[in-house]
Amino acid sequence: MDRIVLLPGDGIGPEVTREARRVLEAACSRRGRKLEFVEELIGGASLDARGTPLADDVVRLARQSRAVLLGAVGGPKWDAAPVDRRPEKGLLRIRKELGLFANLRPATVFPALASASTLRSEAIEGIDLLVVRELTGGLYFGEPRGRALVDGKREARNTLVYDEVEIARIARVAFEAARGRRRHVTHVHKANVLEVSQLWVEVVDETARRYPDVELTHQLVDSCAMLLVRDPRRFDVMLTENLFGDILSDEAAMITGSLGMLPSASLGEGGMGLYEPVHGSAPDIAGKDVANPLAAILSAAMLCEHSLGAKEVAADIRSAVTAVLDAGHRTADLATPGQAQAAVGCAKMGALVLAGLDR
Ligand code: IPM
Ligand code: MG
Repeated sequence: MDRIVLLPGDGIGPEVTREARRVLEAACSRRGRKLEFVEELIGGASLDARGTPLADDVVRLARQSRAVLLGAVGGPKWDAAPVDRRPEKGLLRIRKELGLFANLRPATVFPALASASTLRSEAIEGIDLLVVRELTGGLYFGEPRGRALVDGKREARNTLVYDEVEIARIARVAFEAARGRRRHVTHVHKANVLEVSQLWVEVVDETARRYPDVELTHQLVDSCAMLLVRDPRRFDVMLTENLFGDILSDEAAMITGSLGMLPSASLGEGGMGLYEPVHGSAPDIAGKDVANPLAAILSAAMLCEHSLGAKEVAADIRSAVTAVLDAGHRTADLATPGQAQAAVGCAKMGALVLAGLDR
């Protein structure tokens, strides 16, 4: 039996993970796979109950499990706290401690939702890109970091640092992924200014030699942000460092129509993975049963694929989601203006996908 750690977290995290768990459990059991779920605290919920955004025993439990399914962390209640006492620290810590250096964020357009994008539908139909973001290095973790008072002035510092081993291992993930797709990697950098990006270009070029069947393009991050809205269909796999990936993956998510649809996987060596929707905690709509659980449900599908080796269960979940959208069901974030009243709630959307598994 595979153990899955559920970390619902804050805001809409608990409601979307509840639906994702129901769908995951049912989809696995239909294919004769039993899962054991253990629920634990992370983020603000953990800060409030245990005085830390992530307790050591939760890290240990996650290490001894097959995968982690996470909701979201953060909210206005904890916004004033210093960085190491914020909910986000829990998420950063679990990524780092589990060695989850590869963050995969696929952005695709569901045909039924093409009109939900702010871009014209001709520009977005057929978008199918995968952001491969380095997740345990760069500015997020570099030392030294912190604040100081220097000559009476407040000063703050973060460090951007990568070594070649960190770059090469994430580059391999991107090239391997490209082999299962359209065989094109775009490496996103700022090598006209940053030494760190120059090292990335070098190491990515070296890695590329082992993948002669995959085409490689180097793209400056500013022009990449522009190209992503001008012609998103040109991208297949986008490989980049932690902070650029954070920014570009939100942009990639939004052009597909809704941030509420985008799943993610964070992987380390050896199958361990953490799966979470890209959307975040959305405190403004938390607890109102209006959140879109589809990103969490699609994250559960990624869990099946990458941590359970159950591609057929992943496909079942994805086709149930597609069928529900094709049938016209929408949560509020996906509804076209004027039709918001007809939108279904979070629990109802989960129930529809559950029913869709048995079509
Ligand atoms: C994300 C989020 C996190 C990040 C935050 C919550 C720390 O924005 O997963 O993209 O910056 O990595
Ligand atoms: Mg982000």
